[in-house]
Amino acid sequence: MPYKNSNQNNSNNKLFNLARPAKLDIDIPENDNKKIENNNADQLERTPKIYRKDMGQRGFYDKRNNLNDLTGKEWKFMSKSVITRSYPPDLQHNLRKQHGGQKPPLLCADLIKTFTKKGETVLDPLMGVGGTLLGAALCDRNAIGIELNKQWIDIYKKVCELEDLKELKTFEDDCKNVLKKASKNSIDFILTDVPYWNMDKVEKTRSKVAAKSNLSRFNGSGIQTKQEWIDDLVEIFDLCHGVLKNKKYLAIFIGDMYRGKEYHILSADLANAISNKTPFILKANLVWYDVSKNLHVYGQPHAYIPSMIHQNILIFRKEEQL
Ligand SMILES: C[S@@+](CC[C@H](N)C(=O)[O-])C[C@H]1O[C@@H](n2cnc3c(N)ncnc32)[C@H](O)[C@@H]1O
Repeated sequence: MPYKNSNQNNSNNKLFNLARPAKLDIDIPENDNKKIENNNADQLERTPKIYRKDMGQRGFYDKRNNLNDLTGKEWKFMSKSVITRSYPPDLQHNLRKQHGGQKPPLLCADLIKTFTKKGETVLDPLMGVGGTLLGAALCDRNAIGIELNKQWIDIYKKVCELEDLKELKTFEDDCKNVLKKASKNSIDFILTDVPYWNMDKVEKTRSKVAAKSNLSRFNGSGIQTKQEWIDDLVEIFDLCHGVLKNKKYLAIFIGDMYRGKEYHILSADLANAISNKTPFILKANLVWYDVSKNLHVYGQPHAYIPSMIHQNILIFRKEEQL
């Protein structure tokens, strides 16, 4: 397929000429690092001496840790309920932005490092142009992606080629078909991002800017009521529960929406639906403050309409099933 940003060619557009080394630690911004270091008492209490592995600057790794490879310091940083660090455009952003719903691979990598150990397997059943898969390759995890639309898989493959990153396994299909056939209890972490809710009022009321947005392109399916959209996602996440190992996590990116003169807390609607209709237990609602978002003025001077610069990341766990 022809790529729009063809100002690049294979030989000169790699961000780094050498293959990237896998980064196994979290790159903690200096301010947060200071805060964590000033108050590390709880980290030491939680890790008695006999279990401590000294990782130098990274802090202490607890030998009992069976979730991830993080030290106490890194774990503390990643347990913040608001993600404020910046993830600048990276890894062929211009190519990936044709999608419109792409997520920063480095943010995905930080989440993957928080919920898996090196070598474990991540699944993204709604992979788009592969933020999750690229993030997994960056931190030496395996990953599997499923996507309905071949165009997005092709872009993911092109990015791997241009960036010298390992191309991971993809399926071009409806994820429900793949999940029904997949092995049970085989996946260590599911990280995904839900398709946009195409509501009919959106087309009538959204601004010209919004109407031209790429977001309308990445789902492609027809108009749905909110309930139909939620029911469809609940069916997908119920199938996800089957393929995930016990005590492992599911993380879902989801944005709230102001449409049709009304604010829709889609994150809460979806969190409640998954909690009520699947065995998953809700563990956290992280807020990702996307510093790259521009501010727009929608309602001034008559009405207050928020400029959406955040997304939610819902964290669920599959509790042990006998
Ligand atoms: C929000 S996007 C994911 C973006 C992704 N996080 C990235 O970084 O590129 C959701 C994707 O799910 C895909 N999709 C929607 N329904 C699907 C289904 N039933 N099976 C597989 N993919 C589906 C859409 O085509 C869309 O690309």
